[in-house]
Amino acid sequence: MNILLFGAPGAGKGTQSALLVERHRMHHISTGDLFRHAIKNQTPLGKQAKGFMDKGQLVPDEIVVGMVEEEFGKLHGKQFILDGFPRTVPQAKALESILNTHKMRIDKAVFLEVDQGLLMDRLTGRRVCRKCGAVFHVAAKPPKSAGRCDECGGELYQRDDDKAEVIKTRLEAYEASTAPLKAYYEEIGRLVVVDGTGEANQVFSRIESLLRA
Ligand code: AP5
Ligand code: MG
Repeated sequence: MNILLFGAPGAGKGTQSALLVERHRMHHISTGDLFRHAIKNQTPLGKQAKGFMDKGQLVPDEIVVGMVEEEFGKLHGKQFILDGFPRTVPQAKALESILNTHKMRIDKAVFLEVDQGLLMDRLTGRRVCRKCGAVFHVAAKPPKSAGRCDECGGELYQRDDDKAEVIKTRLEAYEASTAPLKAYYEEIGRLVVVDGTGEANQVFSRIESLLRA
């Protein structure tokens, strides 16, 4: 099964992707992670994306689509989860054409529904491992040892775009450009809406039962 996860910043896309990868060994494609990797390595792609990400704005569609096309070239037929792509209706249309080229399809577009009020706390409390990318939260999922990753012992850091003023712009970009994807996937009969509140494992159980349905 091939799925995409979409929802507001902090809805839990990365957290649920990690659980799905662990259970089903799917290939995880996160456009946010790919951009952060490119920025860390100071590649031309990273340099193009950085200015937009630092401000909390979306990276232009043509840059994102080109990067995703390359990732699909590495899939070799493996099942995948798309996390954070598509994020605009033009990206969703471009994805259809990439899928056609590779004779693949999206089985479910999973929308993680979380009230705006919870998102700021989730994002400002998030900590990420510099080494392996594992995601923690100071209150909801604290690491066993302060500032250190449970998985690999790496240093935990706070993302540059997890500052209150940048989060505000990210939420606005979400409302303006990404929220309309819900209607898009409903119209083509792929939309699955999942309540993204409660503990991460509860959310995961909901996703699992909807994917089986
Ligand atoms: P990206 O990295 O995708 O960021 P995002 O969409 O803003 O989403 P986040 O990663 O912030 O949240 P998430 O839903 O993954 O939540 P998480 O599981 O970590 O993109 C970053 C930037 O890159 C964009 O702003 C844009 O500039 C650019 N970009 C990327 N893709 C693009 C595209 N397609 N087009 C254009 N530009 C693009 O959880 C958050 C926190 O909450 C964690 O601390 C976690 O532990 C905690 N948490 C999770 N679930 C729960 C739960 N159930 N209960 C309590 N806490 C929870
Ligand atoms: Mg994420």
